[in-house]
Amino acid sequence: MPNSSSPLDATAQALVAPGKGILAADESFPTIEKRFKPLDIPANEESRRAYRETLFTTAGLGEFISGAILFDETLRQTAHAGTRLVEILQKQGILPGIKVDHGTAGLPNFPDEKMTEGLDGLRERLREYHGLGARFTKWRAVLTVSEVLPSLTCIEVNAYRLALFASLSQEAGLVPIVEPEILMDGDHTLARCEEVASITLRTVFAALSAHRVRLEAMLLKPAMVLPGVDCQQSATEEEIATHTVRCLRRTVPAAVPGIVFLSGGQSPTQATQRLTAINRAAAGPWALSFSFGRALQESSLSTWHGKAENIPAAQTALLYSARQNSAAVKARSV
Ligand code: 13P
Repeated sequence: MPNSSSPLDATAQALVAPGKGILAADESFPTIEKRFKPLDIPANEESRRAYRETLFTTAGLGEFISGAILFDETLRQTAHAGTRLVEILQKQGILPGIKVDHGTAGLPNFPDEKMTEGLDGLRERLREYHGLGARFTKWRAVLTVSEVLPSLTCIEVNAYRLALFASLSQEAGLVPIVEPEILMDGDHTLARCEEVASITLRTVFAALSAHRVRLEAMLLKPAMVLPGVDCQQSATEEEIATHTVRCLRRTVPAAVPGIVFLSGGQSPTQATQRLTAINRAAAGPWALSFSFGRALQESSLSTWHGKAENIPAAQTALLYSARQNSAAVKARSV
């Protein structure tokens, strides 16, 4: 029966279980260095391990967090006491996931536009990641907004790469998180962002369909529909929520179990307040939750500051952020 459920569907549903969201802790080597630098934390294997161990050993984290996205190095690392970080997550009831793209490169002939790389050898890497305990994957595409960008070529090349990534992930028994990020940089309006997000999501779902990706066994990770950071017209939380929910209702099939937003450089408070407003405005079949990196980690990282004596306070800060965002998801009335 074509509609019978697959074990991957259950994993996708578990990632958006009521009141739960995802911790994105998959910063690549250059990105984690960028986060550590302002705090004078040296970026080396030991400091990265100590930081991720601090996050993952937070008592009670599993009450609010369903999954954690890791970087390749972290999936292989062991904690101070010799337990694998993956096992620490599993004991908390948190599913380990893995970022599998290799970042972006310039799109030839399209200045200012990017394509995401990492398809070469992906089938083999996915098999290995599954063996190491990963149960879901993530691939991030980025789209820059202006009056003329993104080009249709950029949207299409990234959509087809996302679709290949997603189909290869499902083949390997992993739930793909499909992340087409519309960047906040620029002075575009809320309406322009909605327009770009709509075209992008339509193209992405057409590509997913062309590649026969099982929609029940994937999650979408979009940016919220927001005005650019340099836009003169600000938008209220309610306006952001209305535009975001309308855009998603028009473009995301009902078979997708959940939509997990990225935070994308919003402050932690903004991200949580807007997620609350989105859930209050929610009308749609899918769960609307979070897969935040910066918005979940910011206060925890600055509290930790690379010092062992700050671990308990850093964990308190992470648990607080996780609880706040869980409450945002629970603000939904229907
Ligand atoms: P931010 O929430 O910091 O945008 O990170 C989410 C993420 O995983 C980006 O790929």
